Amino acid sequence: MSDPEEPDKPETPDEPQHSDAPQEDGPGHEAPRWMRFLERGTTVMLLGGLGSLVLSFLTLGVLPLGELSDEVKKDTPSSYRPMNQLEQTGFTVYKREGCAYCHSNFVRSTTSDVRRFGAPAEAWEYQDQYPQQWGTRRVGPDLSRESGMRTDAWQYAHLYDPRSTVPQSVMPPYPWLFQKKADGELVPTQEARGLVAYLNFLGRAMRESGPQTKTGSDAVNGVMSHEGH
Ligand code: HEC
Repeated sequence: MSDPEEPDKPETPDEPQHSDAPQEDGPGHEAPRWMRFLERGTTVMLLGGLGSLVLSFLTLGVLPLGELSDEVKKDTPSSYRPMNQLEQTGFTVYKREGCAYCHSNFVRSTTSDVRRFGAPAEAWEYQDQYPQQWGTRRVGPDLSRESGMRTDAWQYAHLYDPRSTVPQSVMPPYPWLFQKKADGELVPTQEARGLVAYLNFLGRAMRESGPQTKTGSDAVNGVMSHEGH
């Protein structure tokens, strides 16, 4: 059974799709409205602008993200393990207290940085730390290689009163991370224990595995051979 005829809809492909479209650019043939709209200067500029925006979003935003996650997957050494609960707590406190205002958390691959702090930062080290606390100032030293640098007792004493361990320090004290018991004894809170655990997480995987990228090992070897002479 065939449907009743619909004269408005062309059914065969060889029928002209747009009966009002010009067959050729002869005189007396007006271009259709959509074509005139497309050819307008403002439309061209708008579409060109939007096109460039989408293209740059894809090439500068989406593509590098994919490449970065591939790189992180490829470079992560087997000694790396994600932050545990306590270290996560510490990371939250680190962000909340604004430690990044004075401390960077990123070793650059320059000789001075590598000599002072160790292997340069690599992408895989930051996979659990979001937003990354790279920081922009170094009022205090970089902390991305802090693990194993000090004892926990030193860290607690320093957090409670920095000038008790470093007399000339300008770092502010963080007494609210400690509880004073009735007998006057100071006990680090869960937040302080987390913070020290987080400081001991920083750079641990790098210390155990060494740089995983060529840039990283080149920077370290460059500094070491420099120092050998
Ligand atoms: C006003 C700036 C400032 C802020 C904010 C600050 N620090 Fe510091 N920090 C310093 C300075 C300066 C030093 C170097 C002197 C010293 O050791 O106290 C330092 C040293 C340190 C050290 C010792 C590094 C080492 O091994 O020599 C650690 C660890 C540290 N800070 C952690 C923190 C943490 C965690 C926070 C946030 C809770 C923080 N700092 C906030 C300025 C700051």
